Amino acid sequence: MPGKKAVYFVASIGLLLLATSASIGNEEKFKNLKILPKDISEKKLDSIMHSYNDALKVTCDFCHIKTKESGNELDFAADGPMKETGRKMIQLMIDINTKYFYYDSTIKPQYLNGVSCNTCHRGNPFPWGE
Ligand code: HEC
Ligand code: HEC
Repeated sequence: MPGKKAVYFVASIGLLLLATSASIGNEEKFKNLKILPKDISEKKLDSIMHSYNDALKVTCDFCHIKTKESGNELDFAADGPMKETGRKMIQLMIDINTKYFYYDSTIKPQYLNGVSCNTCHRGNPFPWGE
């Protein structure tokens, strides 16, 4: 049945296109990740960011800034001083967990949380006092 074959062919091209556009969409979702995996899912990134809010008892705007272009909205891809400190802290956490603790090497080091932000911060953005 050539007709059926043609349908399969068209369908598989369609799937291929879908898969391609999905993976392109994935790459472009986040523009400025330097430490977290670039292929991170939206859900995972969201849960990590909320864990920062919880550990430091802050809101997103503690680290994220507004820019001229973004107006009243936070520009999550833009860098500010607190976000840069946040990056250092994520790296610190990766180092502590991979160098000094037994860890599950099947998990990406960015996702390890034996020692987490909360281990030190405990709801305080300034653990040394301010
Ligand atoms: C303690 C600081 C901190 C807090 C609080 C925080 N973030 Fe982030 N966020 C970061 C850092 C650092 C990065 C960049 C990570 C990297 O470079 O891998 C980032 C990256 C992001 C990105 C990716 C932007 C891009 O396109 O590259 C989004 C989206 C984001 N944060 C959303 C949020 C939201 C929403 C909240 C509040 C629920 C939040 N963040 C709270 C530090 C923070
Ligand atoms: C080993 C302990 C430790 C861990 C783990 C840790 N922090 Fe920190 N963090 C500190 C200390 C101590 C300071 C204060 C440093 C200072 O004031 O110079 C700090 C400061 C910060 C600051 C800047 C606020 C300030 O004090 O100026 C941010 C933002 C921050 N941490 C975010 C995070 C995030 C996000 C994580 C998890 C990815 C994290 N920290 C994990 C100990 C830690």
